[in-house]
Amino acid sequence: MDSALVVGWVALLHDDHYERDFFVIDDLNLSGKTAVITGATSGIGCQAALALARAGVEVIGVGRHPGRCQAAEQSIREVVPESRVRYLLADLSRQAQVRELAGKIREAVSHSGSSRLDVLVNNAGVYSQKFVKTEDGVELTLAVNHIAPFLLTNLLLPLLQDAPSGRVLTVSSGSHFRTWLDPARLNDPLLYHGLWAYKVSKLANILFTLELQRRLVGTSIRAFAVDPGLVNTEMGFKGTSGLTHWVWSHRRTSGVSPDQPARTILFLSAKEGLPEALYWHDCLPVPASRQAQRPDLARRLWEASEAMCGIVNPYIKERS
Ligand SMILES: NC(=O)c1ccc[n+]([C@@H]2O[C@H](COP(=O)([O-])OP(=O)(O)OC[C@H]3O[C@@H](n4cnc5c(N)ncnc54)[C@H](OP(=O)(O)O)[C@@H]3O)[C@@H](O)[C@H]2O)c1
Repeated sequence: MDSALVVGWVALLHDDHYERDFFVIDDLNLSGKTAVITGATSGIGCQAALALARAGVEVIGVGRHPGRCQAAEQSIREVVPESRVRYLLADLSRQAQVRELAGKIREAVSHSGSSRLDVLVNNAGVYSQKFVKTEDGVELTLAVNHIAPFLLTNLLLPLLQDAPSGRVLTVSSGSHFRTWLDPARLNDPLLYHGLWAYKVSKLANILFTLELQRRLVGTSIRAFAVDPGLVNTEMGFKGTSGLTHWVWSHRRTSGVSPDQPARTILFLSAKEGLPEALYWHDCLPVPASRQAQRPDLARRLWEASEAMCGIVNPYIKERS
């Protein structure tokens, strides 16, 4: 087994603060659990799918391209021949496909005999240099990075509630710092700038998690946002050209390997007794920005997102 995945970190409470300590995960046995991970065809998502498969989790990866799904599935089977892994196709920029995906996931878990979902990792993400509107009339970055996780999570909550300790992990980013958003103008920016749209979507990931945590109080599901740090992936080469391409080709070389955030995803999927922290980096709770911790903003964003997808979730009751 690859030593990079053998050792993780555990957050231990010492004198009212969390410290890192070694946490050996080579003998983690999560068999019997099922996880869905979006954006599992490359970068962080692909490594997280591998890490979960190694730990015995039945993995349902989601990708938008059949060839890349096939290649990712094969790469996992090469390392973990006994793994239970399959990929489902969905373009997450299209709400109709997110709804279809939720149906296929329901079918897949019922065929596997478990009828429950233990972990949902909302990882897929894009950076779009140009302003593009999807068929649902939503700006592309917002659609993939925030609306798709919002809709998919809501549609899968009944399956997650059937697990003894369901987890919803949403991959955000440190780029949410020094960012603000107005839920009333989310889809209607005065000026479009790719980097700003990305930052707003990553702030939305944490606000979504904050409101989800509030709504999930009293249930068995836990929700966390993940900061992967700067990671050496292909992300900045997709949907970009010119200067952005050049900047990413230099910037990503200072990034960590995707194994590192994959360990945090594995840790948050597996560890019992985690604190109520919102935002995690390298298996430790870390502070999110002040904007990301505003309950009023989180609630308004949730309501605006419901309106953008036309849903009101009947499965979790809002507390007064
Ligand atoms: N890399 C970093 O430094 C960094 C830092 C902070 C946060 N993040 C976050 O980490 C997450 C993963 O990013 P990454 O760096 O691993 O990038 P990546 O390698 O480009 O992975 C992104 C994944 O999302 C998928 N995806 C994109 N658009 C999609 C769509 N419309 N429908 C379905 N799937 C779609 C991609 O599919 P394809 O394989 O088909 O392209 C890919 O599997 C993102 O949420 C990103 O915001 C990354």
